[in-house]
Amino acid sequence: MNSFSRTARAHANIALIKYWGKRYIPLNLPAVGSISLTLEALTTTTTVAFRPDLAADSLFLNDIQANDKQSKRVFEFLDRIRDLANISHFATVHSENNFPTGAGLASSASGFAALAVAAAGAAKLDLSNSKLSELARLGSGSAARSIFGGFVEMHLGAKKDGSDAVATQIENKDYWPLELLILITSTEHKKIGSTEGMNRTAETSPYYQQWVDTGPKDMRAMKDAISRKDFSYLGELTEYSCLKMHALAMAANPGIIYWNPLTMRLIETVRELRAGGLEAYFTIDAGPQVKVICKPENSEQLRAKLREIPGIKSILHTRLGGPAKLLDS
Ligand code: PMV
Repeated sequence: MNSFSRTARAHANIALIKYWGKRYIPLNLPAVGSISLTLEALTTTTTVAFRPDLAADSLFLNDIQANDKQSKRVFEFLDRIRDLANISHFATVHSENNFPTGAGLASSASGFAALAVAAAGAAKLDLSNSKLSELARLGSGSAARSIFGGFVEMHLGAKKDGSDAVATQIENKDYWPLELLILITSTEHKKIGSTEGMNRTAETSPYYQQWVDTGPKDMRAMKDAISRKDFSYLGELTEYSCLKMHALAMAANPGIIYWNPLTMRLIETVRELRAGGLEAYFTIDAGPQVKVICKPENSEQLRAKLREIPGIKSILHTRLGGPAKLLDS
């Protein structure tokens, strides 16, 4: 095989029904299903080149050589691609996020989705979206969802090999034009990564089994809200899943708290604005940033109101985005 380079772009996603907990850690198999929105404005663009002249793999994130931990995850991912394609060349990987790095926004979802598409393309593998989703999941659970655009479901799956623990699209991005405001409350790096947080929660939180048991009901309810385009129901379920996930993580031992005082203030503010007639709902991942879901007609007014809260570092505004794809084909 001669050298071959491909570039792919994938969007970040935000879970409405959260993934928290793994039923089989080595394959990143989720303990619960999840449902997300793919976000247009937040992207990772990744170029992978397998070359016969390389003596090792290398990874650059926003033009800076990645640290050992980041590199190990990516090089293990390249090993899987090499196994599938039956090639032995090392590769260079250049990956760029268009959103501020160090803003505490998870880049692993868009990162591993872009890597899966670019690496498979560079290795000349012709894979289905389902297979790409399965591969992306091995890098990061939420990345399986970023293969698809719009409204996306991550399936729990039942098979031991994980081949059915993949995402599928529920509806495309034009089905229902929701918007999101992402409120950056801190630019510090997160203290407890999602894998460590999930594993500690599964081992020590007394609420973990209830979380797993009630997951299917939450999934059914959210799919119902999406099929009926019932925004209030979607929003209530989103806040419920978010608070349930954080409550169970807080009840781990030692307890995991991802929020800062501004996170809490913004939760209150979103609920106050809603009570005042400006309908919006919050969700929060494994960090202190607050994501606010709203209808397009309310986004500018909400943004203006939220900008008044002191301490917010920046606000990103996005519509729903499309699937991960190769850029150079
Ligand atoms: O994909 P991971 O391992 O970084 O986990 C993502 C976990 C949450 O963002 C908190 C929830 C989710 O479903 O995206």
